[in-house]
Amino acid sequence: MRYGRMLGSAVMGLVAAGLLGACAGTGGRGMTAGPGDVKRGEYLFNQPGFGGGKNGKSCAACHPGGRGLEQVAARYAGRDAELRSMVNRCIRMALKGEGIRDDSQAMADILAYLRSLGG
Ligand code: HEC
Repeated sequence: MRYGRMLGSAVMGLVAAGLLGACAGTGGRGMTAGPGDVKRGEYLFNQPGFGGGKNGKSCAACHPGGRGLEQVAARYAGRDAELRSMVNRCIRMALKGEGIRDDSQAMADILAYLRSLGG
């Protein structure tokens, strides 16, 4: 009985290690977002439900046509991490969404769009 349980947990351990290994594998390859695309970013910006938003609003509800965000490119120059967290803050607070991953294609696209607004 004792032995059986030890064997059992050893097997579970192996399974868990295998799963972790598999996750680490795909996680490592997860950074596959291509360069940000302004057009796709603009589409997402105007899309209700973006980032899992639950109140039917899009980013454009408060920033129509990106208005008010013209300074973003200059203000966040070289500060991608802060801009990404600003985007997720607006998704969570303003759209009642879950947010998007920093390394997702959607994030790359929305940043490209935001950075295009200045000029
Ligand atoms: C309910 C209204 C509302 C919605 C919807 C909203 N925002 Fe905001 N956003 C604000 C407010 C308020 C601020 C802070 C004041 C400001 O800088 O305009 C802000 C600030 C920002 C900033 C920082 C601006 C700066 O100059 O520092 C970014 C970037 C931004 N929002 C992007 C987005 C994105 C992307 C979305 C959609 C996911 C979005 N916002 C949706 C209200 C909103």
